[in-house]
Amino acid sequence: MRGRRGLSQAIEDYLSEWSDRTGITVEVWALPTARVPTPVADAVYAVVLEALSNVERHSGAHTLSLALTTGRSGLKLTISDNGVGFTPGTRTGRGLDAMKRRFSDVGGTLTINTVVGEGTTITGQI
Ligand SMILES: Nc1ncnc2c1ncn2[C@@H]1O[C@H](COP(=O)(O)OP(=O)(O)O)[C@@H](O)[C@H]1O
Ligand SMILES: [Mg+2]
Repeated sequence: MRGRRGLSQAIEDYLSEWSDRTGITVEVWALPTARVPTPVADAVYAVVLEALSNVERHSGAHTLSLALTTGRSGLKLTISDNGVGFTPGTRTGRGLDAMKRRFSDVGGTLTINTVVGEGTTITGQI
């Protein structure tokens, strides 16, 4: 799926096309230079795709911010949008559950914070 490009390059390429197509501004605050193990990279990439799909379809956001860092305390992923938000617990889609499962399957956790009228932030750690 990501071929030989590596996770950071794959995310950059995807975001660039996504931003052109949707008209949503993308701010990338950080992407790792170190190699990320394949199972973790696959989980992160899948979560990024689902998060972006949700932002495109549901948020009405003008701006999307993404930060992905790796270090001694592990991997951290934050994806924020400034869209309409939603009331947590009232929406039961497969996408949100699938994102959480992708991270828990590789020993991580994923949290969704959302405020109606302000936006949505997804925070994950592995
Ligand atoms: N970034 C977002 N901004 C606004 N609403 C969102 C966002 N992400 C998810 N939602 C809401 O949560 C619901 C569930 O999302 P999800 O589980 O991915 O299912 P689906 O995308 O198939 O509807 C969405 O239908 C939408 O109402
Ligand atoms: Mg979805």
